Amino acid sequence: MSHIELTRHDAVQMIRFNRPEKKNAITNQMYHDLAEAIETGEADETVSVHLLLGHPGAFTAGNDVGDFLMIAQSGSLSGSGVERYLKIQPRINKPIVAAIDGLAVGIGTTLLFHCDMVFATPESRFITPFVNLGLVAENASSLIAPQAMGYQRAFEMLAMGEPFSAERAREAGFVNAVLAPELLEAHALETAQKLAAMPQQALRATKRLMKGDIEPVVAASLREAEIFAERLSSDEAKQAFMAFMSR
Ligand code: COA
Repeated sequence: MSHIELTRHDAVQMIRFNRPEKKNAITNQMYHDLAEAIETGEADETVSVHLLLGHPGAFTAGNDVGDFLMIAQSGSLSGSGVERYLKIQPRINKPIVAAIDGLAVGIGTTLLFHCDMVFATPESRFITPFVNLGLVAENASSLIAPQAMGYQRAFEMLAMGEPFSAERAREAGFVNAVLAPELLEAHALETAQKLAAMPQQALRATKRLMKGDIEPVVAASLREAEIFAERLSSDEAKQAFMAFMSR
């Protein structure tokens, strides 16, 4: 059973984090599978929209902490699934819709800054505990989040690691609507289908215009990844990972 589950609904490619026993924590293999799914979907003319889903209670608990320890030992993100995924993220041309019910931790929140439409249930929690783990913000969030929600609010989220509720995330601008759990996926799919029914070239051109120049985003992501990789082998980070692993 793959931990990244792919299904199709007409022109909508549904990509589900599917490791519920570990709150959908993302392993190296899952990043590779996610990147592969997006690359394949981008190249496939029968796919118009990517729809990202999790499970009730957990979109994803973020990077697998055990994998962080392994990367820390190698001292580099080079060749890892996360590096591959981070490179693809700013270059996705087709619209991405995400539906969150529950936890969206670390990259589970920062990937939403790259999505085009985001829906969440009232109990969802958006948490980026990077500094408490001895790490730094990633996925170009140090650039995008202050632009999107203002510096102070972004600092509260990315540096202090304060959890944002679904309502706060909506106010901050990275959640479109807060929906009851029983309506979430149907609404997200309906939105994805509406997008898939639109003139695709015009839609992709509009997305490109709105996202603007991606080079600063790519550069921020690379800069962060370099520091992130250094931080992974710091004593601060190792202590935080060991504390989690030995709970
Ligand atoms: N990496 C690896 N395993 C994880 C994980 C992660 N990021 N998040 C959760 N899990 C595992 C737990 O170890 C546990 O496994 P077990 O049943 O074999 O012991 C299982 O998923 C359920 O998690 P649990 O901690 O019991 O659930 P909870 O509801 O009490 O807490 C979290 C959920 C997400 C708050 C908590 O698991 C957590 O803090 N995880 C780490 C999140 C994190 O730091 N991610 C990296 C961000 S950069």
